[in-house]
Amino acid sequence: SILIIDFGSQVTQLIARRLRETGVYCEIHPFQSAAEAFARLQPQGVIFSGGPASVTDEGSPRAPQEVFDSGVPILAICYGQQTLALQQGGKVEGGHAREFGRADVEIRETSPLFDGFWKVGGRYPVWMSHGDRVTELPEGFTVIGTSENAPFAIAVNERKRYYTTMFHPEVVHTPDGGKLLQSFVHNIVGLKSDWTMSAYRQRAVDKIRAQVGKGRVICALSGGVDSSVAAILIHEAIGDQLTCVFVDHGLMRMNEADEVVSMFRDHYNIPLVHVDAADKFIGALEGEADPETKRKTIGRLFIEVFEEEAKKLGGAQFLAQGTLYPDVIESVSFSGGPSVTIKSHHNVGGLPARMNMQLVEPLRELFKDEVRALGRELGLPDRFVGRHPFPGPGLAIRLPGGVTRDKLDILRRADAIYLDEIRKAGLYDKIWQAFAVLLPVQTVGVMGDGRTYEFVCALRAVTSVDGMTADFFPYDMNFLGRAATRIINEVRGINRVVYDVTSKPPGTIEWE
Ligand code: XMP
Repeated sequence: SILIIDFGSQVTQLIARRLRETGVYCEIHPFQSAAEAFARLQPQGVIFSGGPASVTDEGSPRAPQEVFDSGVPILAICYGQQTLALQQGGKVEGGHAREFGRADVEIRETSPLFDGFWKVGGRYPVWMSHGDRVTELPEGFTVIGTSENAPFAIAVNERKRYYTTMFHPEVVHTPDGGKLLQSFVHNIVGLKSDWTMSAYRQRAVDKIRAQVGKGRVICALSGGVDSSVAAILIHEAIGDQLTCVFVDHGLMRMNEADEVVSMFRDHYNIPLVHVDAADKFIGALEGEADPETKRKTIGRLFIEVFEEEAKKLGGAQFLAQGTLYPDVIESVSFSGGPSVTIKSHHNVGGLPARMNMQLVEPLRELFKDEVRALGRELGLPDRFVGRHPFPGPGLAIRLPGGVTRDKLDILRRADAIYLDEIRKAGLYDKIWQAFAVLLPVQTVGVMGDGRTYEFVCALRAVTSVDGMTADFFPYDMNFLGRAATRIINEVRGINRVVYDVTSKPPGTIEWE
């Protein structure tokens, strides 16, 4: 495996995702606990991430000495390069012009790091983001790549197998960065691609059996990919010792609740309790316009309903959750100010403590794309595993101004037509998330010979990597025209459609 030591870069997770994509297992640990992680994992290679600190500051992060003493190959990126250089006896200076963005690296010497795709004398685009720079290399290092502002863009010590780059290979703006990371793990560290979802499936099944024994497990199904994959995997491991509880809040998209129920009951034969709690949820939301109150109400009711059902079932010791790796990665904090809550995401995080249950979390080691691959491995249809993300509070947060049954119905129909058009145009997989929002605004229209006075529907579609930042999707105007015409013709209650061209930031993806 590979240990990634996190020095606080915004893009550390991308390093892990790139490695996982090539079939290599890796874990991210903050520099503060990297020594323990190194001892436990016994990785064959280590990667130092970038980070926001300056190595010239007193008390700035360092890599554990054990890593250097062990003799494993190291790839050190940006801040990682600087701390490695300093810890190996080189010099680093601050106060240079900060350099962000694209640069060209010119290759001076060959290296196994880019064997086969970068040639001596060639110039290749890379992404830089740094303030300090190494001014004197430690003994034994040679410069093998330079750029205009980075004389040590790539510096290596082939004997020790230390490879350092001033640029970020993990971001898409370094087009050959993925190949570079692959070269490091396959050619230099010598790891094979044995991290596959079919191997994972078997290991996870064994682990679940060992943890649960003859115990009983309940799983709160949300209808989303994560909890579904977790449930199917657990069912494969322990069969009917698992019961799924699907709290149906009535805020799902068209036909979604039925699809989930029939998939579990008919296709997988998994015991499923379908609690139709739509009246309860919609009743509590009626007249409530504040987004945060909506979320809190939904979260509270969800826990109430789930607890009640769990009591009826009686005696389960384990609670299954579809927790993913990004939720468990400990993040490096540099005691910045308190962060602001933009939106309080509703999840079942409050459940286990309240109910005094042990957690079964078979997806804790996986990234989202790996969960999708595992879902396919378990026989879930592509259409299901490839679905766009959908928020826990569902359509409630796509009805600014308040939830009513009528509005839910209008929104659901508009959303279904919109998504249908997206699929027909072959755009579904090019978009990260797309949905309709029903605005609490009525406008005048003319249909046939009559005047209409109906609601406005806003369409949203974004591209994104992880939902943290997003760009609006640049549709062709003909597509928007088609979708708008169908929505207005087929959905009573809507007479105008607009398209949201806000990116995130400054907007958020959802409207509430
Ligand atoms: P925002 O709107 O914050 O959305 O830009 C980022 C991603 O998070 C989803 N989202 C939520 N998911 N509970 C969830 O489970 C929530 O309350 C919630 N709010 C937003 C949103 O759909 C997008 O994928």
